[in-house]
Formats: sequence, C-alpha cells, structure tokens
Amino acid sequence: MPHAKIVGSGSCLPSRVVTNDDLARELAARNIETSDEWIVERTGIRQRYIAGPETTTSDMAAQAARQALQDAGLSATDIDLIIVATTTPDLTFPSTACLVQDKLGIPGCAAFDIQAVCSGFVYALSTADAFIQAGRARNALVIGAEVFSRLLDWNDRRTCVLFGDGAGAVVVTASDEPGVLAARLNADGSYKDILCANGHVQDGQLSGDPFVRMDGQAVFKLAVNSLAQSALDVCEDAGVRLEDIDWMVPHQANVRIINFLGRKLGLDSDKVVITVDRHANTSAASVPLALDVARRDGRIKSGDLVLMQGVGGGFTWGSVLARM
Ligand code: ACO
Repeated sequence: MPHAKIVGSGSCLPSRVVTNDDLARELAARNIETSDEWIVERTGIRQRYIAGPETTTSDMAAQAARQALQDAGLSATDIDLIIVATTTPDLTFPSTACLVQDKLGIPGCAAFDIQAVCSGFVYALSTADAFIQAGRARNALVIGAEVFSRLLDWNDRRTCVLFGDGAGAVVVTASDEPGVLAARLNADGSYKDILCANGHVQDGQLSGDPFVRMDGQAVFKLAVNSLAQSALDVCEDAGVRLEDIDWMVPHQANVRIINFLGRKLGLDSDKVVITVDRHANTSAASVPLALDVARRDGRIKSGDLVLMQGVGGGFTWGSVLARM
C-alpha cells in the first residue's frame, strides 16, 4: 500500500498587515476599547494579515498551491486530486477547489471542499491520505485557505482581534517511504453553539447572524483537552512515543492554548511551531501556513516526525502524524 508523503509546501498572505496598535486605533474610532497589551497577554497575537475586498479565498489558495508545486518539483498537470479546507468559500457553489482547479488550468481531476472550520486542514490531509492509500490518487494538493476577516463583527472585540486571512498548501504524493503514519478525526456537534456563525442564505436574503460568535473560555478548555487526548491517540495508533516527535504544528488560535497543551503533554516548547503572533488565527489555513514557515526556515527537515493538530467549530478536532 502506498504511503502519503508531504513533498512540498507553499503559502500566501495578503499584503496588508494590521498590527494590534492599528486595530486598536480602528476600533477606537467605533468607541471600542482594546490594546496591544490586552491582545498580546491573552492571545500572543501581535499582528494579522487582512485581505482587500478584491481578494478571494481561491486566489490565495491557488497562489499557495503554485508555490507548493514549485517546492515539490511537480507541475500542476501532475495533480489528480484537489482538496480545499475552508469556512469562507468564494461562493455557495461551485466549490473553492473547483475554482482553484480552473485557476491552475488542470481540468479533469477530482476537486472538492472540506468544511471543518479550524480543523479543516487536518481533515483534508487525512482524506488525501486515505485516497492515496486506496490507490485512488497519486499527487494531491491539500490546501487550507480563508478570508476569515469577512466573518468578523468589528464591533465585537472578543472575536475581531483574534483572526486573520491567508492560505497554506501541501503536495502529498504516493511514496514507498513512510509519510502519514496515523490520523485521528473527531467531532462533537453537541458543542455547536460555543463557536459558530449562524447565518445562511434563504429566499435570496441572508438569514440569521452571519458573524463569528464564541464562548472563549469554553473553547479554550475543550481545545486543550481534546487536542491532548488526540495527540496521545494518534501516537498510540502509529506506535510512536510522544517524546519521539520532532515538531508539533498545532492549530494557531492562541499562544496560551498552545502552551497549555505543550505543558499537558510534557512537550519541550522548542519543538512547537508558533506563528499565531504573526498570522493570528487563520482557521483552516493556520496549520499549513505554520508548516510552510517551519519547512522554509529549515526547522522541519526531511525525515522529521511532525504532529499536526486542528481544533475548531463544530466542535471538531483531529491530528495527523507524518514522517516528512
Ligand atoms: N480588548 C480588551 N478587552 C477585552 C477584549 C479585547 N479585545 N475582549 C474581551 N475583553 C474584555 C471582556 O469584555 C471582559 O471585560 P469585563 O470583565 O469588563 O466584562 C474581559 O476582557 C475578560 O473577558 P473574557 O472573555 O473573560 O477574557 P478571557 O480571559 O477569557 O480571554 C479569550 C478571552 C482570549 C478569547 C480567551 O477566552 C481565549 O483564549 N479563548 C480561546 C478561544 C480562542 O482562542 N478562539 C479562537 C477561535 S477558536 C479556535 O480556533 C479553536
């Protein structure tokens, strides 16, 4: 049975950087008080990238995909599967994956979206792994991409300071060498209300609340506990010890969640990739963006054992353990 191996990565960030001070000034104009000090202390976030009105999720996804293909030394025509994880698709349909396929000019291969909010990338990577193991794909593009800023209520300081936009992509190839060793995906829909955007289109109108709402403390607790258990489960499935992991690439929601998780698992903080300070929470894009940063700066090398973890609305969570 072939293994699914990550052979390239890429990313795309909008050009506009919004620092905490910039955001505090913008919110002050609406009589909403926040500060760099509050945001850094509670979240570790220092800035985020915000897409302009002309930029779509599929634009950033296609750009990240091109970079990942170049990194993998493959051309777009080698791709036979495209999976895009996103909560902010360009359209109700066609899927963002179909739009990306069109932008890459490679008609014919399977292309679909996965919606698991901030867990979307690990859900998509696990799905690509299953396709490759089953012999149904040889070269997959797995992309996490979001213009999450479009779901933000800029009058709600409890959420609007937390998120940013961007895209990350990997190329996953059928290989004789070990790649993805194990994956665990979980969801518990009974927690649907602690993190949600309850709007939908009906009779040509937007119905319900279109903005992200969150019970921050409930999300915090559930995220730490579910990710800790998921890490143990996926290591057990792969028959490896936690201490054998070279790098952990967790969902980048909040540096305090990441630190709590690392402490709970007894993981050395030097082994944890953190980009939330620069990117903020980019939902489905956060893990592939962080992975790409750490591959490009030379921290994550070929042969390393990497634990990727996602957690988010649904409630959903999951882990993928992969040999690079
Ligand atoms: N600036 C200034 N003050 C603020 C801000 C802000 N941006 N946001 C909230 N506050 C105020 C609140 O109004 C409240 O004031 P009050 O006591 O006068 O009412 C006070 O700060 C404390 O509010 P809490 O919501 O209790 O703050 P908490 O310490 O829980 O921190 C936070 C909030 C950062 C969201 C925290 O709950 C958290 O980290 N939760 C994890 C959720 C998360 O990271 N979600 C990301 C998306 S989910 C995901 O990706 C998994």
